[in-house]
Amino acid sequence: MSSEANVRFSVQPGGSLNGTIRVPGDKSISHRSIMLGSLAEGVTHVSGFLEGDDALATLKAFRAMGVKIEGPDNGKVVIHGVGMHGLKAPAGALDLGNSGTSIRLMAGLLAGQGFDVEMVGDASLSKRPMRRVTEPLAMMGANIDSAEGGTPPLLLHGGSTLNGIDYVLPMASAQVKSCVLLAGLYGQGQTSVTEPAPTRDHTERMLQGFGYAVEREGSTARLWGGGSLKATDIDVPADISSAAFFMVGAAIAKNSDVTLEHVGVNPTRTGVIDILRLMGADIEVSNQHEVGGEPVADIRIRSSQLKGIRIPEALVPLAIDEFPALFVAAACAEGETVLTGAEELRVKESDRIQVMADGLIKMGVKAEPTPDGIVIQGSKMHGAEVYSHGDHRIAMSFAMAALRAESEIVINDCANVNTSFPGFVELAGNAGLRIS
Ligand code: S3P
Repeated sequence: MSSEANVRFSVQPGGSLNGTIRVPGDKSISHRSIMLGSLAEGVTHVSGFLEGDDALATLKAFRAMGVKIEGPDNGKVVIHGVGMHGLKAPAGALDLGNSGTSIRLMAGLLAGQGFDVEMVGDASLSKRPMRRVTEPLAMMGANIDSAEGGTPPLLLHGGSTLNGIDYVLPMASAQVKSCVLLAGLYGQGQTSVTEPAPTRDHTERMLQGFGYAVEREGSTARLWGGGSLKATDIDVPADISSAAFFMVGAAIAKNSDVTLEHVGVNPTRTGVIDILRLMGADIEVSNQHEVGGEPVADIRIRSSQLKGIRIPEALVPLAIDEFPALFVAAACAEGETVLTGAEELRVKESDRIQVMADGLIKMGVKAEPTPDGIVIQGSKMHGAEVYSHGDHRIAMSFAMAALRAESEIVINDCANVNTSFPGFVELAGNAGLRIS
Protein backbone atom coordinates (compact mmCIF):
# COMPACT_ATOMS: atom_id res chain seq x y z
CA MET A 1 0.00 0.00 0.00
CA SER A 2 0.93 3.66 0.26
CA SER A 3 3.34 3.09 3.17
CA GLU A 4 6.23 2.52 0.79
CA ALA A 5 6.78 6.19 -0.08
CA ASN A 6 8.33 8.25 2.71
CA VAL A 7 5.68 10.89 3.25
CA ARG A 8 7.17 13.39 5.72
CA PHE A 9 5.34 15.93 7.81
CA SER A 10 7.17 19.07 8.75
CA VAL A 11 5.45 21.02 11.47
CA GLN A 12 6.48 24.51 12.54
CA PRO A 13 6.39 25.20 16.28
CA GLY A 14 3.70 27.04 18.19
CA GLY A 15 0.30 28.29 17.13
CA SER A 16 -3.09 27.34 18.45
CA LEU A 17 -6.09 25.27 17.34
CA ASN A 18 -9.47 26.86 16.82
CA GLY A 19 -12.75 26.20 15.12
CA THR A 20 -15.50 23.66 14.68
CA ILE A 21 -14.29 20.45 13.13
CA ARG A 22 -15.85 17.21 11.96
CA VAL A 23 -13.22 14.48 11.79
CA PRO A 24 -13.76 11.44 9.51
CA GLY A 25 -15.98 8.49 10.34
CA ASP A 26 -15.28 5.89 12.98
CA LYS A 27 -12.92 3.20 11.75
CA SER A 28 -14.28 0.38 13.92
CA ILE A 29 -17.88 1.08 12.93
CA SER A 30 -17.00 1.51 9.24
CA HIS A 31 -15.38 -1.94 9.11
CA ARG A 32 -18.33 -3.57 10.80
CA SER A 33 -20.86 -1.83 8.55
CA ILE A 34 -19.30 -3.49 5.48
CA MET A 35 -19.02 -6.90 7.13
CA LEU A 36 -22.56 -7.09 8.49
CA GLY A 37 -24.12 -5.24 5.54
CA SER A 38 -22.53 -7.78 3.18
CA LEU A 39 -23.99 -10.74 5.08
CA ALA A 40 -27.43 -9.20 5.58
CA GLU A 41 -30.54 -9.83 3.55
CA GLY A 42 -31.41 -6.64 1.69
CA VAL A 43 -29.71 -3.34 0.98
CA THR A 44 -27.80 -1.43 3.68
CA HIS A 45 -27.17 2.30 3.27
CA VAL A 46 -24.16 3.66 5.15
CA SER A 47 -23.38 7.35 5.60
CA GLY A 48 -20.32 8.90 7.24
CA PHE A 49 -18.19 5.91 6.12
CA LEU A 50 -14.46 6.34 6.71
CA GLU A 51 -12.77 6.51 3.30
CA GLY A 52 -9.41 5.53 4.77
CA ASP A 53 -7.20 2.70 3.55
CA ASP A 54 -8.13 0.33 6.41
CA ALA A 55 -11.90 0.45 5.96
CA LEU A 56 -11.42 0.43 2.18
CA ALA A 57 -9.40 -2.78 2.51
CA THR A 58 -12.42 -4.40 4.16
CA LEU A 59 -14.72 -3.00 1.47
CA LYS A 60 -12.53 -4.35 -1.35
CA ALA A 61 -12.26 -7.75 0.33
CA PHE A 62 -16.05 -8.16 0.40
CA ARG A 63 -16.29 -7.00 -3.20
CA ALA A 64 -13.74 -9.68 -4.03
CA MET A 65 -16.10 -12.19 -2.41
CA GLY A 66 -18.92 -11.20 -4.75
CA VAL A 67 -20.75 -8.52 -2.78
CA LYS A 68 -22.00 -5.58 -4.82
CA ILE A 69 -20.97 -2.41 -2.98
CA GLU A 70 -21.58 1.07 -4.41
CA GLY A 71 -19.39 3.99 -3.36
CA PRO A 72 -17.87 5.26 -1.25
CA ASP A 73 -19.12 8.58 -2.47
CA ASN A 74 -18.75 11.35 0.08
CA GLY A 75 -19.07 8.83 2.88
CA LYS A 76 -22.07 7.12 1.34
CA VAL A 77 -21.89 3.38 0.70
CA VAL A 78 -24.66 1.10 -0.52
CA ILE A 79 -24.20 -2.60 0.24
CA HIS A 80 -26.29 -5.22 -1.51
CA GLY A 81 -26.24 -7.95 1.09
CA VAL A 82 -25.86 -11.55 -0.05
CA GLY A 83 -27.13 -13.24 3.11
CA MET A 84 -25.18 -15.37 5.60
CA HIS A 85 -24.30 -18.00 2.99
CA GLY A 86 -23.96 -15.86 -0.14
CA LEU A 87 -20.23 -15.04 -0.15
CA LYS A 88 -18.17 -16.51 -2.98
CA ALA A 89 -14.55 -17.67 -3.04
CA PRO A 90 -12.29 -14.72 -3.97
CA ALA A 91 -10.08 -15.11 -7.03
CA GLY A 92 -6.89 -14.46 -5.03
CA ALA A 93 -5.60 -13.61 -1.57
CA LEU A 94 -7.40 -10.81 0.28
CA ASP A 95 -4.95 -7.95 0.94
CA LEU A 96 -5.87 -6.26 4.18
CA GLY A 97 -3.00 -3.78 4.14
CA ASN A 98 -2.28 -2.32 7.57
CA SER A 99 -5.57 -3.34 9.13
CA GLY A 100 -5.62 -5.58 12.20
CA THR A 101 -9.36 -5.10 12.58
CA SER A 102 -10.00 -6.43 9.07
CA ILE A 103 -7.91 -9.56 9.39
CA ARG A 104 -9.00 -10.48 12.92
CA LEU A 105 -12.73 -9.92 12.45
CA MET A 106 -12.73 -11.52 9.01
CA ALA A 107 -10.87 -14.56 10.36
CA GLY A 108 -13.97 -15.13 12.50
CA LEU A 109 -16.50 -14.42 9.77
CA LEU A 110 -14.74 -16.49 7.13
CA ALA A 111 -13.72 -19.48 9.28
CA GLY A 112 -17.13 -21.09 8.75
CA GLN A 113 -17.45 -20.56 4.98
CA GLY A 114 -17.46 -23.31 2.41
CA PHE A 115 -14.36 -22.03 0.56
CA ASP A 116 -10.67 -21.48 1.26
CA VAL A 117 -9.43 -17.94 1.68
CA GLU A 118 -5.99 -16.46 2.21
CA MET A 119 -5.53 -13.15 4.01
CA VAL A 120 -2.33 -11.13 3.73
CA GLY A 121 -1.17 -7.73 4.93
CA ASP A 122 1.63 -5.17 4.78
CA ALA A 123 4.94 -5.38 6.68
CA SER A 124 3.41 -4.11 9.94
CA LEU A 125 0.35 -6.38 9.85
CA SER A 126 2.59 -9.32 8.92
CA LYS A 127 4.31 -8.97 12.30
CA ARG A 128 1.17 -8.79 14.44
CA PRO A 129 0.01 -11.65 16.66
CA MET A 130 -2.83 -13.75 15.26
CA ARG A 131 -2.76 -16.71 17.67
CA ARG A 132 -5.15 -14.71 19.81
CA VAL A 133 -7.75 -15.38 17.09
CA THR A 134 -6.58 -18.67 15.54
CA GLU A 135 -6.57 -20.43 18.94
CA PRO A 136 -10.23 -19.82 19.85
CA LEU A 137 -11.25 -20.44 16.22
CA ALA A 138 -9.44 -23.80 16.30
CA MET A 139 -11.35 -24.61 19.50
CA MET A 140 -14.52 -24.02 17.50
CA GLY A 141 -13.34 -26.45 14.84
CA ALA A 142 -11.83 -24.08 12.28
CA ASN A 143 -8.83 -25.12 10.22
CA ILE A 144 -6.41 -22.20 9.84
CA ASP A 145 -2.73 -22.01 8.93
CA SER A 146 -0.59 -19.03 9.79
CA ALA A 147 3.05 -18.15 9.22
CA GLU A 148 5.58 -19.41 11.73
CA GLY A 149 5.23 -17.31 14.84
CA GLY A 150 1.46 -17.16 14.48
CA THR A 151 1.48 -14.13 12.17
CA PRO A 152 -0.17 -13.44 8.78
CA PRO A 153 -0.66 -14.64 6.11
CA LEU A 154 -3.63 -16.63 7.37
CA LEU A 155 -4.97 -19.47 5.26
CA LEU A 156 -8.50 -20.45 6.21
CA HIS A 157 -9.60 -23.85 4.95
CA GLY A 158 -13.28 -23.89 4.13
CA GLY A 159 -15.81 -26.55 4.88
CA SER A 160 -15.29 -26.89 8.64
CA THR A 161 -18.30 -27.26 10.90
CA LEU A 162 -18.00 -24.74 13.71
CA ASN A 163 -19.26 -25.38 17.21
CA GLY A 164 -20.17 -22.68 19.66
CA ILE A 165 -17.77 -22.17 22.58
CA ASP A 166 -17.68 -20.29 25.86
CA TYR A 167 -14.47 -18.34 25.58
CA VAL A 168 -12.74 -16.40 28.32
CA LEU A 169 -10.57 -13.76 26.69
CA PRO A 170 -6.96 -13.84 27.92
CA MET A 171 -6.59 -10.11 27.15
CA ALA A 172 -8.96 -7.15 26.83
CA SER A 173 -9.43 -7.14 23.05
CA ALA A 174 -12.49 -6.11 21.09
CA GLN A 175 -10.98 -7.62 17.98
CA VAL A 176 -10.70 -11.05 19.55
CA LYS A 177 -14.14 -10.76 21.16
CA SER A 178 -15.63 -9.75 17.81
CA CYS A 179 -13.81 -12.52 15.94
CA VAL A 180 -15.25 -15.21 18.21
CA LEU A 181 -18.76 -13.73 18.17
CA LEU A 182 -18.74 -13.43 14.37
CA ALA A 183 -17.57 -17.03 14.03
CA GLY A 184 -20.37 -17.88 16.47
CA LEU A 185 -22.91 -16.67 13.88
CA TYR A 186 -21.91 -19.79 11.92
CA GLY A 187 -21.42 -22.00 14.99
CA GLN A 188 -23.75 -24.70 16.21
CA GLY A 189 -25.46 -23.65 19.40
CA GLN A 190 -24.36 -20.89 21.68
CA THR A 191 -21.15 -18.88 21.65
CA SER A 192 -20.16 -16.66 24.53
CA VAL A 193 -17.18 -14.42 25.20
CA THR A 194 -16.22 -13.20 28.65
CA GLU A 195 -13.85 -10.25 28.80
CA PRO A 196 -11.44 -9.29 31.59
CA ALA A 197 -12.35 -5.59 31.18
CA PRO A 198 -14.92 -3.80 29.02
CA THR A 199 -13.78 -3.23 25.43
CA ARG A 200 -15.53 -1.50 22.55
CA ASP A 201 -18.91 -3.12 21.92
CA HIS A 202 -19.66 -1.95 18.37
CA THR A 203 -20.00 -5.53 17.11
CA GLU A 204 -22.65 -6.38 19.70
CA ARG A 205 -24.54 -3.13 19.09
CA MET A 206 -24.44 -3.43 15.33
CA LEU A 207 -25.51 -7.09 15.33
CA GLN A 208 -28.57 -5.98 17.29
CA GLY A 209 -29.11 -3.16 14.79
CA PHE A 210 -29.22 -5.85 12.08
CA GLY A 211 -31.83 -7.71 14.11
CA TYR A 212 -29.51 -10.38 15.57
CA ALA A 213 -30.02 -11.04 19.27
CA VAL A 214 -26.93 -10.66 21.48
CA GLU A 215 -27.29 -11.16 25.21
CA ARG A 216 -25.12 -9.31 27.66
CA GLU A 217 -24.71 -10.64 31.19
CA GLY A 218 -22.04 -8.87 33.23
CA SER A 219 -18.79 -9.25 31.32
CA THR A 220 -20.18 -11.97 29.02
CA ALA A 221 -21.68 -11.45 25.55
CA ARG A 222 -23.60 -14.37 24.08
CA LEU A 223 -25.32 -15.26 20.82
CA TRP A 224 -26.75 -18.31 19.09
CA GLY A 225 -25.57 -19.46 15.67
CA GLY A 226 -27.74 -19.99 12.64
CA GLY A 227 -29.69 -16.72 12.57
CA SER A 228 -29.85 -14.10 9.87
CA LEU A 229 -29.16 -10.38 9.52
CA LYS A 230 -31.67 -7.88 8.14
CA ALA A 231 -30.31 -4.90 6.23
CA THR A 232 -30.46 -1.55 8.00
CA ASP A 233 -29.18 2.01 7.62
CA ILE A 234 -26.03 3.08 9.43
CA ASP A 235 -24.90 6.63 10.22
CA VAL A 236 -21.25 6.36 11.20
CA PRO A 237 -20.28 8.97 13.81
CA ALA A 238 -16.97 10.84 13.69
CA ASP A 239 -14.13 8.77 15.16
CA ILE A 240 -13.26 9.71 18.75
CA SER A 241 -9.81 8.24 18.09
CA SER A 242 -9.26 10.84 15.35
CA ALA A 243 -10.90 13.57 17.44
CA ALA A 244 -8.39 12.75 20.19
CA PHE A 245 -5.51 14.43 18.32
CA PHE A 246 -7.44 17.69 18.27
CA MET A 247 -8.50 17.26 21.89
CA VAL A 248 -4.88 16.91 22.96
CA GLY A 249 -3.73 19.67 20.57
CA ALA A 250 -6.30 22.15 21.88
CA ALA A 251 -5.55 21.23 25.49
CA ILE A 252 -1.79 21.81 25.16
CA ALA A 253 -1.69 24.83 22.81
CA LYS A 254 -2.38 28.23 24.30
CA ASN A 255 -5.42 30.24 23.14
CA SER A 256 -7.12 27.19 21.68
CA ASP A 257 -10.84 26.50 21.53
CA VAL A 258 -12.02 23.59 19.38
CA THR A 259 -15.43 21.98 19.01
CA LEU A 260 -15.51 18.49 17.53
CA GLU A 261 -18.89 17.68 16.07
CA HIS A 262 -20.93 14.48 15.96
CA VAL A 263 -18.27 12.39 17.70
CA GLY A 264 -19.05 8.83 18.72
CA VAL A 265 -19.05 8.73 22.53
CA ASN A 266 -19.81 5.08 23.10
CA PRO A 267 -18.82 4.58 26.77
CA THR A 268 -16.37 1.85 25.74
CA ARG A 269 -14.41 4.51 23.82
CA THR A 270 -14.42 7.61 26.02
CA GLY A 271 -11.41 6.86 28.23
CA VAL A 272 -9.51 9.69 26.51
CA ILE A 273 -12.04 12.23 27.83
CA ASP A 274 -11.80 10.81 31.36
CA ILE A 275 -8.00 10.75 31.31
CA LEU A 276 -7.68 14.29 29.95
CA ARG A 277 -10.17 15.52 32.56
CA LEU A 278 -8.14 13.84 35.33
CA MET A 279 -5.15 15.75 33.94
CA GLY A 280 -7.09 18.99 34.31
CA ALA A 281 -8.32 19.53 30.74
CA ASP A 282 -11.29 21.78 30.09
CA ILE A 283 -13.75 19.59 28.15
CA GLU A 284 -17.46 20.05 27.60
CA VAL A 285 -19.60 17.30 26.12
CA SER A 286 -22.92 18.56 24.77
CA ASN A 287 -25.76 17.74 22.41
CA GLN A 288 -25.60 14.05 23.31
CA HIS A 289 -28.03 11.86 21.39
CA GLU A 290 -28.28 8.39 19.84
CA VAL A 291 -27.71 7.64 16.19
CA GLY A 292 -28.44 4.09 15.07
CA GLY A 293 -27.65 2.56 18.44
CA GLU A 294 -24.45 4.54 19.06
CA PRO A 295 -24.25 7.65 21.28
CA VAL A 296 -22.82 10.79 19.65
CA ALA A 297 -22.06 14.27 21.01
CA ASP A 298 -20.17 17.49 20.38
CA ILE A 299 -16.94 17.87 22.33
CA ARG A 300 -15.52 21.32 23.11
CA ILE A 301 -12.00 21.60 24.45
CA ARG A 302 -10.02 24.67 25.45
CA SER A 303 -6.40 25.24 26.49
CA SER A 304 -5.47 24.50 30.05
CA GLN A 305 -2.44 23.71 32.16
CA LEU A 306 -2.41 19.92 32.40
CA LYS A 307 -0.96 18.03 35.33
CA GLY A 308 0.67 14.61 35.43
CA ILE A 309 -1.38 11.72 36.81
CA ARG A 310 -1.25 8.02 37.48
CA ILE A 311 -3.61 6.70 34.79
CA PRO A 312 -6.23 4.36 36.28
CA GLU A 313 -5.77 0.90 34.73
CA ALA A 314 -9.53 0.49 34.29
CA LEU A 315 -9.39 3.30 31.70
CA VAL A 316 -6.69 1.63 29.59
CA PRO A 317 -8.92 -0.50 27.28
CA LEU A 318 -11.32 2.45 26.97
CA ALA A 319 -8.55 4.66 25.55
CA ILE A 320 -6.35 2.01 23.94
CA ASP A 321 -5.86 3.83 20.63
CA GLU A 322 -5.42 7.27 22.19
CA PHE A 323 -2.21 6.69 24.17
CA PRO A 324 0.20 8.07 21.59
CA ALA A 325 -1.70 11.38 21.77
CA LEU A 326 -2.04 11.13 25.55
CA PHE A 327 1.75 10.68 25.87
CA VAL A 328 2.14 14.06 24.16
CA ALA A 329 -0.33 15.53 26.64
CA ALA A 330 1.75 13.99 29.46
CA ALA A 331 4.92 15.54 28.03
CA CYS A 332 3.21 18.96 28.19
CA ALA A 333 1.81 18.44 31.69
CA GLU A 334 3.26 19.59 34.98
CA GLY A 335 4.87 16.67 36.80
CA GLU A 336 4.92 12.95 36.21
CA THR A 337 2.44 10.74 34.36
CA VAL A 338 2.55 7.00 34.97
CA LEU A 339 0.87 4.41 32.74
CA THR A 340 0.68 0.73 33.71
CA GLY A 341 -1.37 -2.23 32.50
CA ALA A 342 -0.98 -1.27 28.85
CA GLU A 343 1.25 -4.03 27.41
CA GLU A 344 -1.20 -4.31 24.48
CA LEU A 345 0.31 -1.06 23.17
CA ARG A 346 3.41 -3.01 22.25
CA VAL A 347 1.54 -5.06 19.61
CA LYS A 348 -0.35 -2.31 17.78
CA GLU A 349 0.59 -0.99 14.32
CA SER A 350 3.97 -0.35 15.97
CA ASP A 351 5.32 -0.86 19.49
CA ARG A 352 3.65 2.33 20.62
CA ILE A 353 5.43 2.47 23.97
CA GLN A 354 8.92 2.24 22.48
CA VAL A 355 8.28 4.34 19.38
CA MET A 356 6.67 7.19 21.34
CA ALA A 357 9.41 7.05 23.99
CA ASP A 358 12.11 7.24 21.29
CA GLY A 359 10.52 10.31 19.70
CA LEU A 360 9.79 12.10 22.97
CA ILE A 361 13.35 11.49 24.19
CA LYS A 362 14.64 13.02 20.94
CA MET A 363 12.53 16.06 21.79
CA GLY A 364 14.22 16.35 25.18
CA VAL A 365 11.45 14.77 27.25
CA LYS A 366 12.24 12.28 30.02
CA ALA A 367 10.23 9.25 28.94
CA GLU A 368 10.96 5.85 30.44
CA PRO A 369 9.32 2.79 28.88
CA THR A 370 8.35 -0.08 31.18
CA PRO A 371 7.17 -3.55 30.10
CA ASP A 372 3.51 -2.56 30.40
CA GLY A 373 3.55 1.22 30.17
CA ILE A 374 5.64 4.35 30.45
CA VAL A 375 6.65 7.09 32.87
CA ILE A 376 6.76 10.59 31.39
CA GLN A 377 8.02 13.78 33.07
CA GLY A 378 6.43 16.93 31.71
CA SER A 379 9.04 19.32 30.34
CA LYS A 380 9.99 21.71 27.57
CA MET A 381 10.14 20.09 24.14
CA HIS A 382 12.66 21.04 21.50
CA GLY A 383 12.35 20.36 17.79
CA ALA A 384 13.54 17.03 16.42
CA GLU A 385 13.36 14.61 13.54
CA VAL A 386 11.28 11.62 14.61
CA TYR A 387 10.03 8.36 13.07
CA SER A 388 6.47 7.09 13.07
CA HIS A 389 7.47 3.57 11.98
CA GLY A 390 4.53 3.63 9.59
CA ASP A 391 2.08 4.04 12.47
CA HIS A 392 -0.68 6.56 11.67
CA ARG A 393 -1.41 7.48 15.28
CA ILE A 394 2.26 8.06 16.13
CA ALA A 395 2.60 10.42 13.14
CA MET A 396 -0.44 12.50 14.11
CA SER A 397 0.55 12.61 17.78
CA PHE A 398 4.00 14.03 17.04
CA ALA A 399 2.41 16.53 14.66
CA MET A 400 0.33 17.88 17.56
CA ALA A 401 3.42 18.00 19.80
CA ALA A 402 4.76 20.78 17.57
CA LEU A 403 2.15 23.12 19.08
CA ARG A 404 4.37 23.19 22.18
CA ALA A 405 7.80 22.54 20.69
CA GLU A 406 10.51 25.20 20.52
CA SER A 407 11.46 24.49 16.91
CA GLU A 408 10.42 22.45 13.90
CA ILE A 409 9.35 18.81 14.18
CA VAL A 410 9.96 16.56 11.18
CA ILE A 411 8.09 13.27 11.15
CA ASN A 412 9.12 10.47 8.80
CA ASP A 413 7.00 7.71 7.35
CA CYS A 414 3.55 9.32 7.52
CA ALA A 415 1.81 7.72 4.50
CA ASN A 416 -0.26 5.49 6.76
CA VAL A 417 -2.09 8.49 8.23
CA ASN A 418 -4.42 7.67 5.33
CA THR A 419 -5.39 4.40 6.98
CA SER A 420 -7.56 6.17 9.55
CA PHE A 421 -7.52 9.91 8.84
CA PRO A 422 -7.56 10.96 5.19
CA GLY A 423 -7.37 14.76 5.00
CA PHE A 424 -5.57 15.15 8.34
CA VAL A 425 -3.02 17.66 7.05
CA GLU A 426 -5.69 19.95 5.55
CA LEU A 427 -8.05 19.72 8.52
CA ALA A 428 -5.28 20.29 11.07
CA GLY A 429 -3.83 23.10 8.94
CA ASN A 430 -7.20 24.85 8.76
CA ALA A 431 -7.51 24.61 12.54
CA GLY A 432 -4.12 26.29 13.02
CA LEU A 433 -1.44 23.58 12.97
CA ARG A 434 1.53 24.78 10.89
CA ILE A 435 1.90 21.51 9.02
CA SER A 436 3.06 20.71 5.53
C1 S3P B 1 -10.52 -2.31 17.36
C2 S3P B 1 -10.10 -2.79 18.58
C3 S3P B 1 -8.85 -2.38 19.22
C4 S3P B 1 -8.25 -1.13 18.58
C5 S3P B 1 -8.30 -1.17 17.09
C6 S3P B 1 -9.73 -1.32 16.60
C7 S3P B 1 -11.80 -2.79 16.81
O1 S3P B 1 -7.91 -3.43 19.11
O2 S3P B 1 -6.93 -0.95 19.00
O3 S3P B 1 -7.77 0.03 16.55
O4 S3P B 1 -12.32 -2.16 15.87
O5 S3P B 1 -12.33 -3.79 17.32
P1 S3P B 1 -7.85 -4.59 20.22
O6 S3P B 1 -9.20 -5.11 20.37
O7 S3P B 1 -6.89 -5.60 19.65
O8 S3P B 1 -7.32 -3.94 21.45
